[in-house]
Amino acid sequence: MGLLTSIHYGITILAQNFFLSYNKEAMEIKKRKISIIGSTGSIGRQALEVIEKLGDKFKIIALAGGNNVELLKKQAEKYQPEFVSCNSHPELVSGSHNAKILTGMAGLEQICSNKENDIILVACSGKVGLRPTLTAIKNGIDIALANKETLVMAGDIVMSEAKKYGVNIIPVDSEHCAIHQCIKDINQVDKLIITASGGPFLHKSVEDMKNATVEQALAHPRWNMGKKITVDSATLMNKGLEIIEAHHLFGFDYDDIDVVVHPQSVVHSAIEYVDGSVIAQLGLPSMHIPIQYAITYPERFEGIKSKSFSFAETARLDFEKPDYEKFPTVKLAYEMGRTGGTATVCMNAANEEAVFAFLDGKIKLYNIYEITKKMCDEHKVIQNPTIDEIFAVDEQIREKTKEYIAKFSY
Ligand SMILES: NC(=O)c1ccc[n+]([C@@H]2O[C@H](COP(=O)([O-])OP(=O)(O)OC[C@H]3O[C@@H](n4cnc5c(N)ncnc54)[C@H](OP(=O)(O)O)[C@@H]3O)[C@@H](O)[C@H]2O)c1
Repeated sequence: MGLLTSIHYGITILAQNFFLSYNKEAMEIKKRKISIIGSTGSIGRQALEVIEKLGDKFKIIALAGGNNVELLKKQAEKYQPEFVSCNSHPELVSGSHNAKILTGMAGLEQICSNKENDIILVACSGKVGLRPTLTAIKNGIDIALANKETLVMAGDIVMSEAKKYGVNIIPVDSEHCAIHQCIKDINQVDKLIITASGGPFLHKSVEDMKNATVEQALAHPRWNMGKKITVDSATLMNKGLEIIEAHHLFGFDYDDIDVVVHPQSVVHSAIEYVDGSVIAQLGLPSMHIPIQYAITYPERFEGIKSKSFSFAETARLDFEKPDYEKFPTVKLAYEMGRTGGTATVCMNAANEEAVFAFLDGKIKLYNIYEITKKMCDEHKVIQNPTIDEIFAVDEQIREKTKEYIAKFSY
C-alpha cells in the first residue's frame, strides 16, 4: 500500500468510525426517555410489554411500584433503569442492577422531578398518582395518564397547571384515548359519547347483583384489570369516574357527555361534530393499544398489535341505553361532577373505601353505592379547593367511611 493510499484508507476508517458513533448518538438522542409509576400493576406491566416490543424506541429512566417488591426487583434486573422506587422493604429490591433505590412518596416525587424524562406514565392506582403527576407537570414533563383518580380529585388544578407549564396529558384510559384520537378540531365538537361494556352484571337482575360474590364481580367479560377498577366496572362507577375524567381532559360540560352501553368493547368511544358527523375509534379490546398511543404520541408504530381488526369477524356491534336504576353510580357521578369542588373527591374516597370493604367481604356489592351516596349527601362541599384541602377531605371521608362500614350491617 502506497503512502497516499494508506492515508486515504486511514481517513476513510476515521470518517466511518465518526459516522458510526455520531449515528449511535443520534439514535440514542431519538430514544424517548420514560418512567413508569405503577410498573408492577396491570397497566404498568402491559406498558413494559409495549416498550419491549418497540425495541430501541425507549430508554427507561425509572420504575416505581408499591408493595410487590419481588416483581419490581425482577423488572429492575430486566430493564436496568437508573432509579426504582417502592412503598416498603426497599432492601428486597437490591439485585443484579445498578438502579438507585428510592422509597415512598419522596421516591415518586424524585422520579417525577427528573427532567431527563420525556414522558412519565402514571399507572398507579388511587390517590397516590396526584402529587407525582403535579410534580412532573411543574417540571415540564409530558404525562401519559392512566390514573383517573388524579383528574377526579383535582382535575381543575391539574389541567390548569398542565396549560401553564405547556405539558401534554395524553389519556391511557381506552375511552379517553379513543376521544383523543377522534378529535381534529375540538371547537367543532358538540358531544362526547363514552362507551361502557356494562360489566359482568349487564344482563343480570338487580337481585343477582345484590348477592354477587367477589369472584363474580371480578369476572369482567372483556377486560383483565386491577381489582379496584374491575369492581368499579361491575357497579359502573368506573364509567362515572370516566365522565368526570372526560369533563376535565376535554373541557366539556356534563350535559355534553353521553354514556352508551356497548357490550363488545370494540367501539372505544366517539364524538359528534356540530354538523352531525359521528367519529368513533374502534379496535380489539386490548390496553396495549391505548398505552402505546399515549407513550408514543404523536407518532405511531407497528408495536404490539397482535392481529388486524376484522369487521367481518366482529360480526355485530350492539348499543343500548344505560339502566340508571340498576346502576345509580353513573347518576351520582354526573351529580357530583356538576356540583364540582370537593364533591368528586368525596365520591372517589368513599367509593374506594367501600370497594376495599367489599373485596374484604365486609359489605355486599350493592352497598358500595349506598355507602358512597350517604357520604356524598352528608359532605359539605368546598368550591375551588387547594391541593391541601383536597387531601384533607380525602382523608376525612376515608376515615368516616371506614367508621361507618365498621358499624354497617347488611
Ligand atoms: N387496568 C386497566 O385496564 C385500566 C384501564 C384504564 C385505566 N386504568 C387506571 O389505571 C390505574 C392503574 O390500574 P391497574 O388496573 O393497573 O391497577 P393495579 O393492577 O392494581 O396496579 C396498581 C399499581 O399501583 C401501584 N401502587 C399502589 N400503591 C402505590 C404506592 N403507594 N406507591 C407506588 N405505587 C403504588 C401498585 O404497586 P404494587 O402492586 O407493587 O403494590 C401497582 O403497580 C387506575 O387508576 C385505573 O383506574 C386501568
